[in-house]
Amino acid sequence: MTAEASYRTRPLTAETWDDFAALVEANNGVWGGCWCLGFHPEGVKTGTVSEHREGKRAHVEAGTVHQILVYEGDDVVGWCQYGAPGELPNIKNPKRYEQGNDSPPDWRIGCIFTGSRHGGKGVARAAVTAALEAIKAAGGGVVEAYPEQVSGRPPQRGAYFHTGPEPLFEELGFVRDRQIAKWRWVMRRTV
Ligand SMILES: CC(C)(COP(=O)(O)OP(=O)(O)OC[C@H]1O[C@@H](n2cnc3c(N)ncnc32)[C@H](O)[C@@H]1OP(=O)(O)O)[C@@H](O)C(=O)NCCC(=O)NCCS
Repeated sequence: MTAEASYRTRPLTAETWDDFAALVEANNGVWGGCWCLGFHPEGVKTGTVSEHREGKRAHVEAGTVHQILVYEGDDVVGWCQYGAPGELPNIKNPKRYEQGNDSPPDWRIGCIFTGSRHGGKGVARAAVTAALEAIKAAGGGVVEAYPEQVSGRPPQRGAYFHTGPEPLFEELGFVRDRQIAKWRWVMRRTV
């Protein structure tokens, strides 16, 4: 297990917006301008990069986003987005997902991101751990994550890890519920 640095976490709010924006801008808007909108109802199908930025900001100001920011010193180095399914309706592989969706979750983990210079140091672990603590504080329930399987294939990196790697969720007590793509699983945990 990676030795965890002493990371601090804070929620994404109007007060922490500039810290979040600094990390997104340092990473070219993330995916060339997603601004972590993909799971939100409007997604990233339309709009310019600056519209995505303003769209995310509008969610922050309206309180329609739940997102943990991980700080190293004064800098945000990563995040984990979470929320109720209605807040984050756009998951990947929706048709396969809906086929087995007999009991919808109370919460889902959306995008996870660690800044390119901070990988492999426990940032994502700190982010997801803090998201689970926030979910517990908000009343808890069934939490779903949609990570990529990493066993049985060559080492992977890249953007499709935006929902995280399976071992991270296993370590945090999630178990496989069902497969929704060749390498993607629904995993669940109750908090
Ligand atoms: C996947 C990602 C979130 C991992 O972040 P990280 O901070 O490096 O992860 P951590 O150091 O907290 O790792 C925790 C555990 O996850 C697992 N893990 C992390 N990266 C992994 C990888 N590339 N392959 C397999 N397992 C991995 C390991 O089990 C690790 O524990 P260990 O280090 O003790 O082995 C990061 O690489 C990333 O942001 N990728 C791009 C995702 C993206 O594009 N998001 C867009 C959001 S809009």
